[in-house]
Amino acid sequence: MITARSTPNIALIKYWGNRHNEFRLCANDSLSMTLNTPSLDITIDHADTLSITSTNKEMTEKNILRFKKTLELIESYLGTIEPTKVSNLSIKIDSHIPPAIGLASSAAVFSALAKAISGLVDFDLTDEQISIMARLGSGSAARSIFGGFGAIRNEENQFIDGCKGWQVADEHHWNLHDIIIVPSTEEKKVGSSEGHPQAQTSPDFAARVDAINGHRQQECIDAILSKDFEKLQKVAEEDCMEMHHCMQTQDPPLNYLSDETYRILDEVKALRKAEHLPVLYTMDAGPTVHLFCTDEAKERIAEYAHTQEGCQIFEASIGPGAHLV
Ligand code: DP6
Repeated sequence: MITARSTPNIALIKYWGNRHNEFRLCANDSLSMTLNTPSLDITIDHADTLSITSTNKEMTEKNILRFKKTLELIESYLGTIEPTKVSNLSIKIDSHIPPAIGLASSAAVFSALAKAISGLVDFDLTDEQISIMARLGSGSAARSIFGGFGAIRNEENQFIDGCKGWQVADEHHWNLHDIIIVPSTEEKKVGSSEGHPQAQTSPDFAARVDAINGHRQQECIDAILSKDFEKLQKVAEEDCMEMHHCMQTQDPPLNYLSDETYRILDEVKALRKAEHLPVLYTMDAGPTVHLFCTDEAKERIAEYAHTQEGCQIFEASIGPGAHLV
Protein backbone atom coordinates (compact mmCIF):
# COMPACT_ATOMS: atom_id res chain seq x y z
CA MET A 1 0.00 0.00 0.00
CA ILE A 2 1.36 3.42 -1.00
CA THR A 3 0.11 6.94 -0.20
CA ALA A 4 1.00 10.07 -2.16
CA ARG A 5 0.03 13.66 -1.35
CA SER A 6 -0.43 16.44 -3.89
CA THR A 7 -1.91 19.91 -4.35
CA PRO A 8 -3.37 21.99 -7.20
CA ASN A 9 -1.22 24.22 -9.38
CA ILE A 10 -2.37 27.49 -10.92
CA ALA A 11 -1.18 28.30 -14.42
CA LEU A 12 0.50 31.56 -15.40
CA ILE A 13 0.70 30.36 -19.00
CA LYS A 14 -2.48 28.37 -19.53
CA TYR A 15 -2.91 25.01 -21.23
CA TRP A 16 -5.94 25.20 -23.50
CA GLY A 17 -6.62 22.75 -26.31
CA ASN A 18 -5.13 19.40 -27.26
CA ARG A 19 -3.18 18.30 -30.31
CA HIS A 20 -4.10 14.67 -29.47
CA ASN A 21 -7.23 14.18 -27.38
CA GLU A 22 -6.80 10.57 -26.25
CA PHE A 23 -3.20 11.06 -25.08
CA ARG A 24 -3.95 14.57 -23.76
CA LEU A 25 -1.02 15.97 -25.72
CA CYS A 26 -1.36 19.69 -24.99
CA ALA A 27 -1.51 22.05 -27.97
CA ASN A 28 0.71 24.59 -26.23
CA ASP A 29 3.44 24.71 -23.59
CA SER A 30 2.30 25.94 -20.16
CA LEU A 31 3.70 27.02 -16.80
CA SER A 32 2.29 27.21 -13.28
CA MET A 33 2.95 27.61 -9.59
CA THR A 34 2.29 24.58 -7.40
CA LEU A 35 0.36 25.52 -4.25
CA ASN A 36 1.17 24.33 -0.71
CA THR A 37 -2.53 23.88 0.14
CA PRO A 38 -5.24 22.48 -0.02
CA SER A 39 -3.93 18.94 -0.39
CA LEU A 40 -5.24 15.48 -1.05
CA ASP A 41 -3.90 12.02 -0.33
CA ILE A 42 -4.30 9.00 -2.57
CA THR A 43 -3.67 5.53 -1.21
CA ILE A 44 -3.36 2.69 -3.72
CA ASP A 45 -2.73 -1.02 -3.67
CA HIS A 46 -2.84 -3.91 -6.10
CA ALA A 47 -6.30 -5.53 -6.29
CA ASP A 48 -8.31 -8.01 -8.37
CA THR A 49 -10.55 -5.29 -9.79
CA LEU A 50 -10.53 -1.49 -9.95
CA SER A 51 -12.23 0.19 -6.97
CA ILE A 52 -12.27 3.91 -6.11
CA THR A 53 -13.57 5.71 -3.04
CA SER A 54 -13.43 9.41 -2.26
CA THR A 55 -14.10 11.34 0.95
CA ASN A 56 -15.61 14.38 -0.72
CA LYS A 57 -16.74 13.47 -4.22
CA GLU A 58 -19.38 11.11 -5.46
CA MET A 59 -17.77 8.50 -7.71
CA THR A 60 -20.09 8.64 -10.71
CA GLU A 61 -19.81 6.26 -13.63
CA LYS A 62 -18.17 9.06 -15.61
CA ASN A 63 -15.52 9.58 -12.89
CA ILE A 64 -14.78 5.88 -12.64
CA LEU A 65 -14.45 5.63 -16.44
CA ARG A 66 -11.90 8.47 -16.40
CA PHE A 67 -9.76 6.56 -13.87
CA LYS A 68 -10.15 3.32 -15.83
CA LYS A 69 -9.08 5.00 -19.07
CA THR A 70 -6.18 6.76 -17.34
CA LEU A 71 -4.88 3.52 -15.80
CA GLU A 72 -5.08 1.77 -19.19
CA LEU A 73 -3.07 4.59 -20.77
CA ILE A 74 -0.54 4.56 -17.91
CA GLU A 75 -0.19 0.81 -18.34
CA SER A 76 0.50 1.17 -22.04
CA TYR A 77 3.02 3.98 -21.35
CA LEU A 78 4.77 1.85 -18.68
CA GLY A 79 4.88 -0.91 -21.30
CA THR A 80 7.42 1.24 -23.19
CA ILE A 81 9.65 1.25 -20.06
CA GLU A 82 8.96 -2.03 -18.24
CA PRO A 83 5.66 -3.89 -18.81
CA THR A 84 3.65 -3.61 -15.56
CA LYS A 85 0.02 -4.23 -14.59
CA VAL A 86 -1.60 -1.20 -12.93
CA SER A 87 -5.16 -1.27 -14.29
CA ASN A 88 -6.58 -3.15 -11.27
CA LEU A 89 -5.98 -1.06 -8.17
CA SER A 90 -7.85 -0.14 -5.04
CA ILE A 91 -7.76 3.69 -4.91
CA LYS A 92 -8.73 5.71 -1.84
CA ILE A 93 -8.91 9.50 -2.23
CA ASP A 94 -8.84 11.59 0.93
CA SER A 95 -9.35 15.13 -0.32
CA HIS A 96 -9.34 18.47 1.45
CA ILE A 97 -10.04 20.32 -1.81
CA PRO A 98 -13.56 21.69 -2.16
CA PRO A 99 -14.78 20.27 -5.51
CA ALA A 100 -15.52 22.45 -8.57
CA ILE A 101 -14.51 25.84 -7.23
CA GLY A 102 -11.67 26.53 -9.61
CA LEU A 103 -8.97 24.92 -7.51
CA ALA A 104 -7.87 22.37 -10.10
CA SER A 105 -8.69 19.26 -8.08
CA SER A 106 -8.10 17.02 -11.12
CA ALA A 107 -4.48 18.22 -11.24
CA ALA A 108 -3.99 17.20 -7.60
CA VAL A 109 -5.83 13.88 -8.07
CA PHE A 110 -3.93 12.66 -11.10
CA SER A 111 -0.51 13.93 -9.94
CA ALA A 112 -1.03 12.09 -6.63
CA LEU A 113 -2.18 8.96 -8.50
CA ALA A 114 0.90 9.02 -10.78
CA LYS A 115 3.23 9.61 -7.83
CA ALA A 116 1.62 6.75 -5.88
CA ILE A 117 1.99 4.41 -8.88
CA SER A 118 5.69 5.33 -9.07
CA GLY A 119 5.99 4.11 -5.47
CA LEU A 120 4.03 0.91 -6.13
CA VAL A 121 6.00 -0.39 -9.12
CA ASP A 122 9.29 -2.16 -8.43
CA PHE A 123 11.51 0.00 -10.62
CA ASP A 124 12.52 3.67 -10.51
CA LEU A 125 10.78 6.35 -12.55
CA THR A 126 12.06 9.89 -13.07
CA ASP A 127 9.87 12.93 -12.30
CA GLU A 128 9.59 13.49 -16.04
CA GLN A 129 8.19 9.96 -16.50
CA ILE A 130 5.83 10.45 -13.54
CA SER A 131 4.64 13.73 -15.10
CA ILE A 132 3.75 11.85 -18.29
CA MET A 133 1.63 9.38 -16.28
CA ALA A 134 -0.09 12.31 -14.51
CA ARG A 135 -0.81 14.03 -17.83
CA LEU A 136 -2.63 10.96 -19.14
CA GLY A 137 -5.30 11.62 -16.46
CA SER A 138 -5.34 15.42 -16.61
CA GLY A 139 -3.12 17.69 -18.69
CA SER A 140 -2.39 20.19 -15.95
CA ALA A 141 -1.57 17.39 -13.45
CA ALA A 142 1.84 16.98 -15.12
CA ARG A 143 2.89 20.28 -13.48
CA SER A 144 1.87 19.35 -9.90
CA ILE A 145 4.54 16.63 -9.88
CA PHE A 146 7.01 19.46 -9.35
CA GLY A 147 7.39 21.87 -6.45
CA GLY A 148 7.71 25.60 -7.11
CA PHE A 149 7.22 26.48 -10.76
CA GLY A 150 6.35 23.55 -13.03
CA ALA A 151 6.01 23.63 -16.80
CA ILE A 152 4.96 21.47 -19.73
CA ARG A 153 6.89 21.29 -22.95
CA ASN A 154 5.93 19.64 -26.21
CA GLU A 155 8.03 17.51 -28.48
CA GLU A 156 7.36 17.41 -32.19
CA ASN A 157 5.68 14.00 -32.28
CA GLN A 158 2.32 12.38 -31.50
CA PHE A 159 3.68 9.67 -29.18
CA ILE A 160 2.12 9.02 -25.78
CA ASP A 161 5.19 10.63 -24.13
CA GLY A 162 5.34 13.58 -26.55
CA CYS A 163 4.48 16.17 -23.90
CA LYS A 164 6.46 16.35 -20.64
CA GLY A 165 6.56 18.16 -17.34
CA TRP A 166 9.69 19.86 -16.00
CA GLN A 167 10.68 22.16 -13.16
CA VAL A 168 11.53 25.80 -13.91
CA ALA A 169 12.52 26.61 -10.30
CA ASP A 170 11.86 24.95 -6.95
CA GLU A 171 9.70 26.23 -4.09
CA HIS A 172 12.63 28.02 -2.42
CA HIS A 173 13.32 30.25 -5.43
CA TRP A 174 10.59 32.91 -4.99
CA ASN A 175 8.01 32.92 -2.23
CA LEU A 176 4.87 33.98 -4.07
CA HIS A 177 1.36 33.73 -2.63
CA ASP A 178 -2.03 33.05 -4.19
CA ILE A 179 -4.96 34.80 -2.51
CA ILE A 180 -8.02 33.09 -3.96
CA ILE A 181 -11.43 34.77 -4.21
CA VAL A 182 -14.27 32.36 -4.98
CA PRO A 183 -17.41 34.27 -5.98
CA SER A 184 -19.49 31.17 -6.70
CA THR A 185 -19.39 27.57 -5.54
CA GLU A 186 -21.88 26.44 -8.15
CA GLU A 187 -20.55 23.39 -10.01
CA LYS A 188 -19.57 24.40 -13.56
CA LYS A 189 -21.65 23.04 -16.42
CA VAL A 190 -18.82 22.28 -18.86
CA GLY A 191 -15.48 21.10 -17.47
CA SER A 192 -12.06 21.62 -19.06
CA SER A 193 -12.00 18.07 -20.42
CA GLU A 194 -15.06 18.80 -22.57
CA GLY A 195 -13.73 22.23 -23.56
CA HIS A 196 -10.21 21.29 -24.75
CA PRO A 197 -11.29 19.27 -27.83
CA GLN A 198 -13.32 22.25 -29.11
CA ALA A 199 -10.54 24.84 -28.66
CA GLN A 200 -9.46 24.61 -32.33
CA THR A 201 -12.83 26.03 -33.39
CA SER A 202 -11.86 29.47 -32.07
CA PRO A 203 -10.55 31.61 -34.96
CA ASP A 204 -7.84 32.91 -32.61
CA PHE A 205 -6.64 29.54 -31.31
CA ALA A 206 -3.77 28.97 -33.78
CA ALA A 207 -2.31 32.44 -33.18
CA ARG A 208 -2.43 31.83 -29.43
CA VAL A 209 -0.52 28.53 -29.73
CA ASP A 210 2.10 30.22 -31.93
CA ALA A 211 2.52 33.13 -29.50
CA ILE A 212 3.06 30.82 -26.52
CA ASN A 213 5.29 28.28 -28.21
CA GLY A 214 7.12 31.05 -30.09
CA HIS A 215 7.96 33.47 -27.26
CA ARG A 216 5.46 33.86 -24.38
CA GLN A 217 6.41 30.70 -22.45
CA GLN A 218 10.07 31.77 -22.58
CA GLU A 219 9.20 35.29 -21.41
CA CYS A 220 7.39 33.79 -18.42
CA ILE A 221 10.35 31.53 -17.61
CA ASP A 222 12.69 34.54 -17.80
CA ALA A 223 10.42 36.61 -15.51
CA ILE A 224 10.41 33.83 -12.91
CA LEU A 225 14.14 33.14 -13.05
CA SER A 226 14.95 36.87 -12.71
CA LYS A 227 12.10 37.40 -10.15
CA ASP A 228 10.79 40.26 -12.28
CA PHE A 229 7.21 40.62 -10.99
CA GLU A 230 6.19 43.36 -13.40
CA LYS A 231 7.20 41.23 -16.38
CA LEU A 232 5.43 38.22 -14.88
CA GLN A 233 2.27 40.27 -14.38
CA LYS A 234 2.18 41.46 -17.99
CA VAL A 235 2.76 38.07 -19.56
CA ALA A 236 0.44 36.12 -17.20
CA GLU A 237 -2.49 38.55 -17.49
CA GLU A 238 -2.13 38.73 -21.26
CA ASP A 239 -2.15 34.95 -21.49
CA CYS A 240 -5.10 34.52 -19.13
CA MET A 241 -7.33 37.00 -20.96
CA GLU A 242 -6.32 35.53 -24.31
CA MET A 243 -7.28 32.01 -23.16
CA HIS A 244 -10.68 33.28 -22.02
CA HIS A 245 -11.12 35.04 -25.36
CA CYS A 246 -10.44 31.71 -27.14
CA MET A 247 -12.90 29.93 -24.84
CA GLN A 248 -15.56 32.56 -25.51
CA THR A 249 -15.08 32.37 -29.28
CA GLN A 250 -14.95 28.58 -29.63
CA ASP A 251 -17.94 26.52 -30.73
CA PRO A 252 -19.95 26.15 -28.53
CA PRO A 253 -18.66 29.18 -26.61
CA LEU A 254 -17.53 28.82 -23.00
CA ASN A 255 -18.00 31.77 -20.69
CA TYR A 256 -16.38 30.96 -17.38
CA LEU A 257 -16.02 34.51 -16.09
CA SER A 258 -18.89 36.22 -14.26
CA ASP A 259 -19.81 39.86 -13.59
CA GLU A 260 -18.29 39.35 -10.15
CA THR A 261 -14.98 38.29 -11.75
CA TYR A 262 -14.85 41.47 -13.88
CA ARG A 263 -15.78 43.67 -10.90
CA ILE A 264 -12.95 42.15 -8.80
CA LEU A 265 -10.46 42.62 -11.67
CA ASP A 266 -11.38 46.31 -11.98
CA GLU A 267 -10.96 46.80 -8.24
CA VAL A 268 -7.62 44.98 -8.15
CA LYS A 269 -6.29 47.07 -11.05
CA ALA A 270 -7.32 50.27 -9.26
CA LEU A 271 -5.85 49.09 -5.95
CA ARG A 272 -2.47 48.14 -7.40
CA LYS A 273 -2.23 51.44 -9.25
CA ALA A 274 -3.10 53.50 -6.19
CA GLU A 275 -0.83 51.58 -3.80
CA HIS A 276 1.89 50.31 -6.22
CA LEU A 277 1.29 46.69 -5.21
CA PRO A 278 3.03 43.72 -6.84
CA VAL A 279 -0.11 41.69 -7.56
CA LEU A 280 -1.39 39.92 -10.68
CA TYR A 281 -4.68 38.21 -11.47
CA THR A 282 -5.43 34.98 -13.26
CA MET A 283 -8.51 32.77 -13.72
CA ASP A 284 -8.88 29.14 -14.86
CA ALA A 285 -12.08 27.48 -16.09
CA GLY A 286 -14.33 29.27 -13.61
CA PRO A 287 -15.11 32.68 -12.08
CA THR A 288 -12.56 32.22 -9.25
CA VAL A 289 -9.91 34.97 -9.17
CA HIS A 290 -6.35 34.04 -8.19
CA LEU A 291 -4.34 37.01 -6.93
CA PHE A 292 -0.64 36.18 -7.07
CA CYS A 293 1.52 38.51 -5.00
CA THR A 294 4.89 38.84 -3.29
CA ASP A 295 5.51 38.84 0.49
CA GLU A 296 5.41 42.63 0.37
CA ALA A 297 1.81 42.80 -0.93
CA LYS A 298 0.35 39.71 0.72
CA GLU A 299 -1.19 41.31 3.80
CA ARG A 300 -2.87 44.10 1.82
CA ILE A 301 -4.26 41.73 -0.82
CA ALA A 302 -5.59 39.34 1.82
CA GLU A 303 -7.22 42.29 3.58
CA TYR A 304 -8.87 43.34 0.31
CA ALA A 305 -10.04 39.76 -0.38
CA HIS A 306 -11.68 39.44 3.02
CA THR A 307 -13.85 42.51 2.31
CA GLN A 308 -15.59 40.59 -0.52
CA GLU A 309 -19.09 39.76 0.61
CA GLY A 310 -20.55 36.39 -0.33
CA CYS A 311 -17.15 35.08 -1.51
CA GLN A 312 -15.05 32.27 -0.07
CA ILE A 313 -11.39 33.19 0.45
CA PHE A 314 -8.45 30.78 0.44
CA GLU A 315 -4.83 31.67 1.06
CA ALA A 316 -2.02 29.58 -0.38
CA SER A 317 1.68 29.95 -1.10
CA ILE A 318 4.20 28.14 -3.25
CA GLY A 319 4.41 24.42 -2.43
CA PRO A 320 6.62 21.32 -2.72
CA GLY A 321 4.67 19.28 -5.32
CA ALA A 322 3.57 15.64 -5.22
CA HIS A 323 5.38 13.40 -2.73
CA LEU A 324 5.04 10.02 -1.05
CA VAL A 325 3.92 10.08 2.59
C1 DP6 B 1 -7.94 26.42 -17.76
O1 DP6 B 1 -5.84 19.95 -16.97
O2 DP6 B 1 -8.14 20.52 -16.12
O3 DP6 B 1 -7.02 25.25 -15.89
O4 DP6 B 1 -6.60 17.59 -19.21
O5 DP6 B 1 -9.06 17.71 -19.42
O6 DP6 B 1 -8.02 17.44 -17.14
P1 DP6 B 1 -7.88 18.00 -18.55
O7 DP6 B 1 -7.87 19.55 -18.39
P2 DP6 B 1 -7.20 20.42 -17.27
O8 DP6 B 1 -7.15 21.81 -18.03
C2 DP6 B 1 -6.61 22.93 -17.42
C3 DP6 B 1 -7.17 24.15 -18.03
C4 DP6 B 1 -6.90 25.42 -17.29
C5 DP6 B 1 -5.51 25.99 -17.62
C6 DP6 B 1 -4.31 25.33 -16.97
O9 DP6 B 1 -4.38 24.86 -15.83
O10 DP6 B 1 -3.25 25.34 -17.62
